[in-house]
Amino acid sequence: MIHIQPKDISVPEVQRLMQGGIGPRPIALVSTISKEGLHNLSPFSFFNAFGANPPIVAFSPSRRGKDATFKDTYNNLISNGECVIQCVTYSMVEQISLASTEYAPDVNEFIKSGLTPIDSDLVKPKRVKESPFQMECILKEMKNYGTGGSSANIAICEVLKFHVAEDLFENGIIIPEKIDLVGRMSADFYCRASGNSIFVVQKPVSKKGIGFDSLPVFIKESNIYTANNLGKLANVESIPSDEEVEKFYKEKFEADTRNFESGKEAFSRYERLKDYEKMLKAALLLDPRDPAKKDFIELSAKCALEENNVSFAWLAALLVNLLKLI
Ligand SMILES: Cc1cc2nc3c(=O)[nH]c(=O)nc-3n(C[C@H](O)[C@H](O)[C@H](O)COP(=O)(O)O)c2cc1C
Repeated sequence: MIHIQPKDISVPEVQRLMQGGIGPRPIALVSTISKEGLHNLSPFSFFNAFGANPPIVAFSPSRRGKDATFKDTYNNLISNGECVIQCVTYSMVEQISLASTEYAPDVNEFIKSGLTPIDSDLVKPKRVKESPFQMECILKEMKNYGTGGSSANIAICEVLKFHVAEDLFENGIIIPEKIDLVGRMSADFYCRASGNSIFVVQKPVSKKGIGFDSLPVFIKESNIYTANNLGKLANVESIPSDEEVEKFYKEKFEADTRNFESGKEAFSRYERLKDYEKMLKAALLLDPRDPAKKDFIELSAKCALEENNVSFAWLAALLVNLLKLI
């Protein structure tokens, strides 16, 4: 590890560190309007939501790094207290990057970025038509920390009205693939929140998960399971009993194996297909003296876990103990 106190490095270095370690950050595309009625549009990734009752969001139009002056978004918010914040989707990311250019205050970034302004209902700043998630906001409070370049000005805003595209929803939930958000990471890196980067973590069970400390030692010390696998196993309310494991074993082992292809090659094929039932059957058919047998059983349990069949995974994992392979 390297150990750093911010006072010992330059401000740009602190900023780079924070951008690298705190991410991916959602991006607020903020539209404001100046005293003179000029429209402004800029992205801010020091942004998040903080409560729903009332809906509170905040972002930081920090002081400019080069001369510590205030950005146009900041000045506009201070002068009239209104903005529209929209989320940034993959299809518009190059345009929002263009909108981040430090144009003079009289330059309209809607025109420069090619994004389309549309009227808001409750505030004067425009909404961005291309974004499927728009929030009309008022400024509740501006918190200033520091007076040098890159110092934070946290604009805490209340959302007065949401505008959300209907086709983002399934059963009342916004589906990641449909909204296709992007996040900001370090330097010029962004990420796209869809495809392989989306995965599911089931919320902890409604009562109480047994916890890591209650996992059997032979499971915790296995070299097959990852920390995430163990986390999933520890999120059950109770461990299957010996009787349940024996019953499970009989079902799997005594099942008809006449036309079943077993052996290590077949196991690897089942593994590629993520067919954990067949993986386990093939593992159980290995000679008990085969040193791979324990690993193969645990690989079947691991595969079941990753396919979200936690009860199968537990029963398979405990077979290692039942068969005295530890
Ligand atoms: C994706 C992205 C995220 C950004 N996040 C921030 C931020 O959180 N705070 C900030 O002050 N500037 C941020 N910037 C830079 C501002 O967008 C940029 O300084 C902009 O020109 C400010 O415009 P304004 O002076 O019209 O308000 C970001 C730029 C990009 C491209």
